[in-house]
Amino acid sequence: MNKKMTINSIQKTKGERSLVMITAYDALFAKLFENSVDMILVGDSLNMSFAGRKDTLSSTMQQMIYHTNAVCNGAKNSFVICDMPFGTYTNKEDALKNAIDVFQQTNADCVKIEGGKDKAHIVEYLVKNGIAVCGHIGLLPQSVRSEGGYKVKGRDTQEQLKLIEDARAIEEAGAFCMVIEGVIAEVASEITSCVNIPVIGIGAGNGVDGQVLVFSDMLGLFEEFTPKFVKKYIDGASIVKEAVKIYADEVKSKEFPQEIHTY
Ligand code: KIV
Repeated sequence: MNKKMTINSIQKTKGERSLVMITAYDALFAKLFENSVDMILVGDSLNMSFAGRKDTLSSTMQQMIYHTNAVCNGAKNSFVICDMPFGTYTNKEDALKNAIDVFQQTNADCVKIEGGKDKAHIVEYLVKNGIAVCGHIGLLPQSVRSEGGYKVKGRDTQEQLKLIEDARAIEEAGAFCMVIEGVIAEVASEITSCVNIPVIGIGAGNGVDGQVLVFSDMLGLFEEFTPKFVKKYIDGASIVKEAVKIYADEVKSKEFPQEIHTY
């Protein structure tokens, strides 16, 4: 069994080795992942792949706490990150109240919030009050409606400078690491060298300090769409459908259950 990571051991990996993060939303999958990864993210992406909603915006604190508990129960030896849902950290007081709920009602090790310089004061307030924070800059899924879609960031100089400013602000505010999503690889690489905390990429190339993928994407279980940055390690949807079809056929033909499945 791997030794559980802490914010200190995570930070020490910078420049030494690549960090592995994956999402999980329940105990079953969290347990399957725990020995291969450094961190498990209970991402609000669960609102799309598990709750079937069109984006992450309707995710709630109650939902995140429920799923974070399930993940912590399944992967007791993993460093677990709970995503703060849209609208739950618009001001310092709400952010702290909601983050305290996460810490008191689950065994999560930190929370993750989306935003750069504009959210630095929130990160600073949480950290000062004993909450470990993972930042999230670049493409922010919680801004999908206000931005009119999922837009890759860092294509022009203005965006590049803003990203560097965002990364530095989040680091200065006290985040122990950050996720960078949907950013031109060269820019993500430059940002990684501008800060002293680990930068975990998703759709941000190979010049970062680690990678995160949404498990239902990389296992090929989520069929709605597959972003360019996702590598499907198995065609999970086909494997599951095929298995369930065989089961259904065997039930209909009375081939299942057999003697060995019977008391
Ligand atoms: O919600 C999520 O799964 C995330 C990842 C995309 C990083 O925030």
